[in-house]
Formats: sequence, C-alpha cells, structure tokens
Amino acid sequence: MPLLAIETSCDDTCAAVLEGPEILSSVISSQGIHERYGGVVPEIASRHHLELIRPVIEQALDQSGLGLDGIDAVAVTAGPGLIGALLVGLSAAKAIAAPRRLPLIPTDHLNGHVAANDLAPDPIEPPFLCLVASGGHTLLAGVRDESGFEILGETLDDAAGEAIDKGARQLGLGFPGGPALERLARDGDPAAFEFPVAMSRDPGLDFSFSGLKTAMVYLCRELGREGVERHRADLASGYQAAIVGQLVSKLGRALDRETWPVVALGGGVAANGPLREAVSGLCAERDIRLKLVPISLCTDNAAMIGAAAYRSEAIAWPDYLGFDAFATGARA
Ligand code: KG4
Ligand code: ZN
Repeated sequence: MPLLAIETSCDDTCAAVLEGPEILSSVISSQGIHERYGGVVPEIASRHHLELIRPVIEQALDQSGLGLDGIDAVAVTAGPGLIGALLVGLSAAKAIAAPRRLPLIPTDHLNGHVAANDLAPDPIEPPFLCLVASGGHTLLAGVRDESGFEILGETLDDAAGEAIDKGARQLGLGFPGGPALERLARDGDPAAFEFPVAMSRDPGLDFSFSGLKTAMVYLCRELGREGVERHRADLASGYQAAIVGQLVSKLGRALDRETWPVVALGGGVAANGPLREAVSGLCAERDIRLKLVPISLCTDNAAMIGAAAYRSEAIAWPDYLGFDAFATGARA
C-alpha cells in the first residue's frame, strides 16, 4: 500500500512517499530562520509550514513517480510537538485524503523515530531496544511487538538534544547546535574539564541533563569570555562526552536488566558520531546486534512517519474529519 506521509511537528516541513519499507521519495525543508533566535519560535514555525507544505508535498509526490493518484493512504504526525505546526500538517493531510476518500493514519512522532528502524535498507523487526534521543525527548523504548513501545526510562528534565543545543549556544554556536558541537569537540580534550556525570548513582533507567547544562553555564561564567574562547574545543568535547556517557551508561544498564536481541537508535542526537561509536562498542562487548539508522533518518523526516503508519491504525473517511492534533501526552 503506497502512502504519503507528512511531518510538521517542529521546524522541518517534511513529506515522503513509501511503499512498505522502501522510501520512494523524502523531502525535508528545514526552516533556517530559527537560527537567528537561538531556538524554534513556534508561531514562526507554523507560518513557514503554511508556506512550505504544498511545495514540499508536491515535490515528494513528483519524485516518487506515483503522483497523487498512486497513493492509497495519507499518514501524518498527530503529536507530540508544537500544536500550531502540527495543525498545518494535519489539515493538509485531511485536505488531500478527504476528497479522494482515502484513509488517514495519524501517527505519534516518537513512534516515528523508533519506526525509522523498520525502513530499508536493512529493516529490523521487534523485539528490540531503542534509545531515542532528540531535541524534545530522551527515552529508552522497549519495542516488544508492532503495536508500540514500553518506556523503560526517560528524562526527568531536559532532553539530550535540548541540553546539546543550550550548551552549544554557550559556546557561541548556531542552532541547532548538535552538528557544530560535534565538529568543535573533535579538536578538544574531553578530560580537560570535569562535567558532572548525572544519575550515575541512580539505579533506574531515567536520564537527567539539566544539572549538566547548569554546570556548563557556571563554568563559562567562571572562565569569562576570553577563557571560553581559548577552551571552546575542550568545553565542547567534555560536554558532549558527559551527554554521550550518560546515554550509553543507561543503555548498558537496560541491557543488564533484560536481554534484547537488537539495539537500535533514533532521534536527531542519534546522528552524533561519538554516540554511534560508543553504542557500537557497547554492543560489540556484549555481542548484541546493533542497527544504526542512516543519519538522514535520525533527524526529523516524513519517511519515519510513514514507517510508523504501517504499525498504526488507519481511520476511514469521514471519521477523521474531527480528529485533532495533540501537543503533549497521548501516544499511539
Ligand atoms: O529528532 P530531531 O530532528 O527533532 C526533534 O524531534 O526534536 O532532533 C533534533 C536534535 C537537536 O537538538 C540537534 O542539536 C540534535 O538533534 N542533533 C545532534 C546532531 N544532529 C542533530 N546532536 C548531536 N550530534 C549531532 N550530530
Ligand atoms: Zn523528532
């Protein structure tokens, strides 16, 4: 069943066409405008989605070679995310599906990050343990079957990506800070500064990144502008290592507790090289298969929403006309 998938939960306007695990097209239009504000401005994101949604969908349909007539269903992110941004995608999905009496498949954004692992090449099947780390969420998802996932642990405060972006900002890097922080950290010594390893004594599987973020603020204040400038690479390296360290140690703890045949990653932070290397090392040590999604499928995209849709329930026309998006909470 070929489907059109739409994702507009944050600042990327995305559309994709899928046929099972095969991605026929995937278009991502990132709204660079938020860089000047140092973060995503919800109202601006919604307005840009309004402008971009039609050309992005048209491009995805054209590139797939199927066109609108070749589509059997429309999948769309229903939440969680910025409500105004989500409503643009959901309204577009309904407007495309309803006149053709096509079914609509509302999906959960987090299910999308997990389901990115279902896509070609090398799709995997449950059961698997997935570490999801993005700008909005950080959690360990126990995927036991196709119906969804169990949250084994999650962040008690900030998401890993949020901490990365805030730390990067302290070092004068643009938004989103992840890729720039990773580049800067390559030239630094991760041991030059001591960052707190949060939750190391906590036996559970939850995460916490707010203390680390505060430690970075105080350290930068102590060093002063010149000191920060001189030690930027060391600061980036130590900060990144502390975040990766916590993610990997909690993943290891989850593997101590329960046997999983496969480990997978999801979310924008999963694009991080040192994290991918550290998780590869952990899996090699324990002789567990590791599925590494391509970097293009880690950050927000619509192909992962299409993948999640194959696991979600479709709503027939006209029952979805009153279906609403959700900013937080409800998960498929
Ligand atoms: O999944 P995503 O695209 O959007 C959300 O659902 O939030 O994740 C975005 C987050 C941002 O915080 C960004 O800085 C981070 O992923 N990120 C990275 C890298 N690429 C993106 N963090 C570390 N290293 C990267 N290479
Ligand atoms: Zn995301």
